[in-house]
Amino acid sequence: MSDQPATIQQLITQLAWQVEMGVDEAFLGAEALAMPKVKLDKYLPSSGAATPVEVAASAAIATISDVSTPPSASVMSAPKTATLSGTMSPPMASPDAPDLAAIGSLAELKAGLLAFEGCALKHTASNLVFADGNPGARLMIIGEAPGRDEDMVGLPFVGVSGQLLDKMLASIGLDRSHVYIANLLPWRPPGNRTPTAEETAMMLPWLRRHVQLANPDYVLILGGSAAKAVLDTKDGILKLRGRWQDVDFGDTIMRPTLASLHPAYLLRSPAQKRLSFADILAVNSRLSSSSLSPSPSD
Ligand code: URA
Repeated sequence: MSDQPATIQQLITQLAWQVEMGVDEAFLGAEALAMPKVKLDKYLPSSGAATPVEVAASAAIATISDVSTPPSASVMSAPKTATLSGTMSPPMASPDAPDLAAIGSLAELKAGLLAFEGCALKHTASNLVFADGNPGARLMIIGEAPGRDEDMVGLPFVGVSGQLLDKMLASIGLDRSHVYIANLLPWRPPGNRTPTAEETAMMLPWLRRHVQLANPDYVLILGGSAAKAVLDTKDGILKLRGRWQDVDFGDTIMRPTLASLHPAYLLRSPAQKRLSFADILAVNSRLSSSSLSPSPSD
């Protein structure tokens, strides 16, 4: 590697590459780096259509615009042990995949995931995002995968999507003590990219075991990725949503399961909230009409 200081253009190229690989956060601020100020605006793309990478790089640069030298890779929130190419290694044949049927409790399941080395996402994530809420709840909610906030905190749906989810639940008198929340993937895909088919296939058995152990009366799936994986279909979420289906999560118990729109999608397409509200009312109706278990307010 050259001892010459990198030029601004080289730094921008490196940063754009890092953004493309999923780095979206700098751990060190300008003070820590104690670098001279430099005006970067003139180096940003000024004409022509910017590529998504350029746009993302511009945004990232804007947040560290006092920095003339980017922090070294070791201080970025970049993959801890990921390959520097940022590509996910193909899933291993999971020689170490445990016998999930032998896992007898949620605590064991969490421990099993913490020990599981078969999914490369684990190595780019900061935390395992296992679950939140009440493990004894009658309603289990399944999202797709943690985002940045969830990855940092280690709990599902704590970012803006989670805030909308909380409002949706509140509209039928529920809060997190009335529901149990998990994700199809317990680790954040770098840069919030869509999970690959391999990642989904690898982690689906874990989710199924998760549902078996939590044993909810009803399951609400949020978003197309999770719905397609759990319901084993290629249909889109707008076709899948709003229809209860009895789903066997692998223990021969048929659990009424409803797919609905993901809160992140609702934030982008607020007009679709009416569909989501219809779904949440359908959940409420099931919870209220079932007399076998206590109602959410009990
Ligand atoms: N989106 C999800 O699907 N799950 C989360 O935990 C957060 C955002």
